[in-house]
Amino acid sequence: MTVIERSLPYSYSHLEKAAELTLEKEPFTYVQSGAGAEVTLRANEEAFERWAIVPRVLKDVSSRNLSANLLGTHLPSSFMLAPIGNQGILHDEGELASAKAAAAFGVPFIASTVSTFSLEEIAAANGDGSRWFQLYWSSDFEVTASMVQRAETAGYSAIVVTVDMPVVGHRERDLNYQYFPLALGKGAANFLQDPVFQSRLSKSPVEERDVALAELLSVFFEPALTWDKVQELRKITSLPILIKGILHADDAKIAVDLAFDGIVVSNHGGRQLDGCFSSLDALPAIADTVKGRIPVLFDSGIRRGADAVKALSLGADAVLLGRPYVYGLAAGGENGVKHVIEQFIKDFDSAIALTGLTKASDANRSILRKVN
Ligand SMILES: Cc1cc2nc3c(=O)[nH]c(=O)nc-3n(C[C@H](O)[C@H](O)[C@H](O)COP(=O)(O)O)c2cc1C
Repeated sequence: MTVIERSLPYSYSHLEKAAELTLEKEPFTYVQSGAGAEVTLRANEEAFERWAIVPRVLKDVSSRNLSANLLGTHLPSSFMLAPIGNQGILHDEGELASAKAAAAFGVPFIASTVSTFSLEEIAAANGDGSRWFQLYWSSDFEVTASMVQRAETAGYSAIVVTVDMPVVGHRERDLNYQYFPLALGKGAANFLQDPVFQSRLSKSPVEERDVALAELLSVFFEPALTWDKVQELRKITSLPILIKGILHADDAKIAVDLAFDGIVVSNHGGRQLDGCFSSLDALPAIADTVKGRIPVLFDSGIRRGADAVKALSLGADAVLLGRPYVYGLAAGGENGVKHVIEQFIKDFDSAIALTGLTKASDANRSILRKVN
């Protein structure tokens, strides 16, 4: 571990390898793998190779502005850290380390419902940093509402409702290991510490942990979730509400028509429906439909600065960084996440300058060509 900390790798594949060397095979596989034959997981990265940047030169790029401002949140380099659950299986400090690292760079952190630490503990670690809360909608609506209210109280400034998981994807490699962190109680803190959830139990989660986990699993998914139901969130929070997991332009249109505050174009990093559209392939039609009326965020496949330039050029307002930072967490804890964030910012800055841009928000399709 300390050897890796002293020499954290720079390239994504080496970072992934460093995480693999640090972790047991089950948690490593949990992060690395996708659903099914992992066609979509691969497609997410391959889609970036089919777009090439055609840079402009002699544009005076001596001063550059990488920032974006979305829904009252400042993104110094047009990216945020994606919600990734169960970070405690990667490092003892889990989300606390990631939230601290994000705050050190002013990069907003999106905390997952299934975090190892509670949203209040993550908020304390994040301090003055900016943070959003990712919501998995529980079939016990009062638990959902309680979590949203707790997030508002704890200083989260937007709610990101993830809608691409009405049921869990068929993750063959996790099934091979029979490794399901939530069933082991690994990402359960937000439920176990929730007063409404606790009120459903006859004994506290400390006294009867197994009973509490069984209750959690029984209310965790809400396959009956609909657009109408998600709108009920409006009654319980005044925070901006974003919908994460949009791939179809018609769904983007519904999100705009129903006045949601933003969307995240995402296929959950290839972990849900294998064989579905790569996120980048889905982006242009969605951006054309949304027409700038609400912010469009993007994830699934962002590895390097040039990837972010391509996503912004195809219509995203900002991107979410996923697997790279949790590999950094696994390999080096808080310093590992800081290393990944720092390098991503430098890489993105360099990519913007080398494209011939001075503002990230100026990226547009004129600088891209489709290649085979
Ligand atoms: C290990 C792991 C756990 C994740 N947990 C969540 C989660 O709790 N909530 C959520 O909305 N998305 C979750 N995601 C999806 C990410 O938010 C994001 O969409 C995905 O990582 C993007 O793909 P990429 O990391 O390959 O770029 C998770 C992804 C991974 C890899």
